[in-house]
Amino acid sequence: MKILGIESSHDDTSIALIENQQVLFFHKISQIDIHKKYGGTIPEIASREHFQNYYILLEEIKKEFDLNTIDAIAYTEKPGLIGSLQMGYLFAHALSKYLNKELIPINHLYGHIFSVLLDTNKNIEYPSIALVVSGGHTNLYLLNNSQDIQLIGQTQDDAAGEVYDKVARVLFNQFPGGPVIDQIFQDNRNKISTNIKLLNPKLEQELDFSFSGYKTQIMNLSKSDSINKTELAYVFQQQTIDFIISKVKLAISKYQPKSIILSGGVSANSYLREQFLKLHSNALIPSLKYSTDNGAMIAIAAYIQKKNIK
Ligand code: KG4
Ligand code: ZN
Repeated sequence: MKILGIESSHDDTSIALIENQQVLFFHKISQIDIHKKYGGTIPEIASREHFQNYYILLEEIKKEFDLNTIDAIAYTEKPGLIGSLQMGYLFAHALSKYLNKELIPINHLYGHIFSVLLDTNKNIEYPSIALVVSGGHTNLYLLNNSQDIQLIGQTQDDAAGEVYDKVARVLFNQFPGGPVIDQIFQDNRNKISTNIKLLNPKLEQELDFSFSGYKTQIMNLSKSDSINKTELAYVFQQQTIDFIISKVKLAISKYQPKSIILSGGVSANSYLREQFLKLHSNALIPSLKYSTDNGAMIAIAAYIQKKNIK
């Protein structure tokens, strides 16, 4: 089965073609360089860029594939920036009408979850626990099968990626923050000894998350002249990732899953990947190129839905 996946929920425009779980074509145009100067994504600019980028990507894929041979078109229905989602929908809808192919709306977060199957022959063993950590969400799910997906924990304030972005902006005036802070952490691993201890959040629901307290503590500490910003970034990564990992551990002991899944943009984080793999003998992680937003993850979520693989 060949499925075209279309993703433009935020600031990446991406088209991919998959055949079953294998990726045949995957292109993405990132808008990071455009939004960088504003320190974050400007929705109006993002929508306009998506509009132009779709037609660039369409020309690319047409050079390699006959789109009449595909079975369906999947697009990101929600969640995301309204204008950006609308662009993706209009493009996918027009293409499906023109090619006379089925149109499949996909939840972006489920796309992240099933991205772990891309370019593999693996299946997910159920029940499974899935952590989606991105710029907009930090969610824990219990998957009883591919159709029965229950939200069991979520952030009560900022998302993990959002806080990475804010901390990197305050400390280093850089965007996006995840890769910058992760690199600093890697470069200083086993070199830094620190006495800084951030307070962990207190939450009513044990599987929920909260990150705004970490952000505020880092911002307050950064105001001191004597503070070492590298040390702060290091401490931030270590403690927020340890906190995330502690929640997954809790979910594992509560639900005894047969597999665990890590996904979303923050799943590109080296320390998170390393710690996550230690938690379970069947831990699934997407390859780095499929961690951040992409069309292939939207296509594979549609494939799994269509096959109804349980
Ligand atoms: O899933 P994604 O591409 O977009 C959304 O759906 O939000 O996630 C983007 C987020 C950004 O906040 C970015 O800073 C974060 O993923 N990110 C990382 C790393 N690479 C990207 N966070 C931590 N460590 C990384 N290596
Ligand atoms: Zn995402």
